[in-house]
Amino acid sequence: MANILVFDSGMGGLTIYREIRRALPAHHYFYCFDNANFPYGELSEPALIAACSRLVTTMVSRHHIDLVVIACNTASTICLPALRAALDIPVVGVVPAIKPAAAQTRNGCIGLLATPGTVSRHYTHELIAQFAPGKRVLLKGTTELVIEAEHKLAGLPVNMALLQEVLADWLEGESVPDTLVLGCTHFPLLNEEIQQLMPQCQLIDSGRAVAKRVAWLLASGMNSAFVSVPSNEGMAKAYCTRLDETAQKLRAPLQAWGLSSLEEVRV
Ligand code: DGL
Repeated sequence: MANILVFDSGMGGLTIYREIRRALPAHHYFYCFDNANFPYGELSEPALIAACSRLVTTMVSRHHIDLVVIACNTASTICLPALRAALDIPVVGVVPAIKPAAAQTRNGCIGLLATPGTVSRHYTHELIAQFAPGKRVLLKGTTELVIEAEHKLAGLPVNMALLQEVLADWLEGESVPDTLVLGCTHFPLLNEEIQQLMPQCQLIDSGRAVAKRVAWLLASGMNSAFVSVPSNEGMAKAYCTRLDETAQKLRAPLQAWGLSSLEEVRV
């Protein structure tokens, strides 16, 4: 079975891990979140590349990882070249699902909800130019909603007034997207709340596409040992970079997501 590392700054990567594990339950999962450097959307690009590279390469060598998933748009849109150069195993990234959104919009207006980091990236602007020519793509970068998603996962109520404030100019008026790209892996955690405010809008995230890509890599590009999958479930553990009081409280929610333990990883 393959050892799969799923990596994010916080709890958002769970939305990607959920889809991969659902599709490929027999493999072993290492869910690592860099809470010491959270939120990634506010970090400078050099700081983000350094933190992400150090942590991912450490986890890969310590746990004999076979495949890495950077379950974070903010990191993927800037760190993938450095990680692929440093590692000799497949590194799968998660980037905003602009292409399917462009195919599915009916009114030609797409909202991209992501972090401040992701909406400012050259990579993101290239994605839009390449895959959504002729569409109106409205960008919104928000760290507040990343924090709301963390709160929700920890069992706290979502601040609907704040959500409404952030989404205000997409709720009515001239710029109402009919398709919303959740370009941050934290945001599918807020699916219900966003859909409550934008009932007519279709929400698109990258979870299933990433799971398909991982399945394809394991089946075709790699050792045939990963192909014959037994029916048993593999193990799944969580790692963080700071096991403080807030992180300790995540043990129960992480267990509910199938992650049996939480340890601190020192880099
Ligand atoms: N979950 C991340 C993303 O997909 C990053 C959130 C953050 O740490 O700012 O972009």
